[in-house]
Amino acid sequence: MTIHIGAKPGEIAETVLLPGDPMRAKWAAETFLTDAVCVNRVRGMLGYTGTWKGHRVTIHGSGMGMPSLSIYVNELIRDYGAKTLIRIGSTGAMQPSIALRDIVLAMTASTLSTPSRGIFRELNFAPCADFGLLAAAHAAARTRGVPTHVGGIYSSDVFYDERPDLNEQMTRHGVLAVEMEAAELYILAARHGARALAVLTVSDHLMTGAAMAPDDREQSFGDMVEIALEAAFA
Ligand code: ADE
Repeated sequence: MTIHIGAKPGEIAETVLLPGDPMRAKWAAETFLTDAVCVNRVRGMLGYTGTWKGHRVTIHGSGMGMPSLSIYVNELIRDYGAKTLIRIGSTGAMQPSIALRDIVLAMTASTLSTPSRGIFRELNFAPCADFGLLAAAHAAARTRGVPTHVGGIYSSDVFYDERPDLNEQMTRHGVLAVEMEAAELYILAARHGARALAVLTVSDHLMTGAAMAPDDREQSFGDMVEIALEAAFA
């Protein structure tokens, strides 16, 4: 057990999928895993371990934002030996060519600040995905016929952002979409020799104000889970 995860040693798999929302972890585990067992309930941050096509997988909530994700990913890697970590979550599109429900695979994640900023100081470290996971996820998404975009995203610290000028600069520089966790996931994976990727579904569009209807979210979330699982075990 760690401070934030109640799982016993051996109860977390080497492959971990990380939705932000713990209830999504429950839904995904119950929908896609065989013999899923709840291994964490501390603070309501649910985690489940089961199997997918014979492979052991844990699906564990990360919470919202990089400080929350950092707590869980540090403990999952350092204390439980997680080696492949894939964020599955929603994102806001920042390019006109991207539509609601499209998939974004985050090749890189720009950020103003992360919990790791103290380490890098004036250096602008470039957090990036594991290439093998990225390539496998791209192939899996293409096979499913889901419109998929691969490129840089922006991991923000603020959902209700008062800096539209910054979003405009991101759009101008080709950043595909904004979310709030991937950069720190990539940094922690780099630090500890793990593999990481963020597979994201476009839930809203910053340029048009469009947002996905709640009913659509489950199907899109299911696509993401399956793309992530196929990539992890490709
Ligand atoms: N996640 C989904 N949509 C987002 C947005 N517009 N900003 C930040 N994170 C998001």
